[in-house]
Amino acid sequence: MKYRAVIFDLDGVLCHTDQYHYQAWKAVADELGIYFDETINNRLRGVSRMESFSIILERYEGEMSQEERMAYAEKKNDIYKELLKQMSTADLSQEVKETLDALRERGLKLAVGSSSKNAGFILKQLGLGEYFDAVSDGNNITRSKPDPEVFLKAAEYLDEDPAGCLVVEDAEAGVKAAAAGGMDCAAIGDAASMVAGGGVSSVAADGTVAALGHKVYCLESFSDLLKVVE
Ligand code: BG6
Ligand code: MG
Repeated sequence: MKYRAVIFDLDGVLCHTDQYHYQAWKAVADELGIYFDETINNRLRGVSRMESFSIILERYEGEMSQEERMAYAEKKNDIYKELLKQMSTADLSQEVKETLDALRERGLKLAVGSSSKNAGFILKQLGLGEYFDAVSDGNNITRSKPDPEVFLKAAEYLDEDPAGCLVVEDAEAGVKAAAAGGMDCAAIGDAASMVAGGGVSSVAADGTVAALGHKVYCLESFSDLLKVVE
């Protein structure tokens, strides 16, 4: 088998928190009188909290100090955390759970590689608090995707070479991060449509990453992973 480990992005791959991020940022944007919609929200996928706020502030007319930025980002996070309390094991789909179990049965190590500082809490809500062999998240990195740090740390925690790891991602930034870290990637959701449509610069529509020799597979559904890691 080509792969010894699979590293999963969390938001948009194992579960769907987009709507909660959107509602929380929308509350902050409304308070500041900034236009914000679902299309702008899509640009925040895989991007750290502070970088996400910078994207939202592109439409802000005034000046904002670093202290104020931190305070608003914290406010967004408080609203977001409150919304996350609604999550439960019911938010983990049968397909995701069965696929994870099947990959584990095949002897693969499983890890999470997420930009979120709330990853631990979300995993707990989903009933996956103790499930993964390693969790690399927003608390152990200094550089956000498309930098590969979060995935390289996950590989290090698993004691595996990057070349033996397959990343699963729904965001363009994450697909690029995997390639930059020397890892093949399985793209799902938005990222899969973007790759297939030739919309991810440096990734050809057939999934070959220019000049790097890595592969990007496009998944139609999560369980397709079982075909990629045969
Ligand atoms: C990523 C999300 O998983 O985590 C981004 O895709 C989010 O949208 C980022 O900005 C940071 O999340 P948190 O929970 O640390 O604010
Ligand atoms: Mg994601």
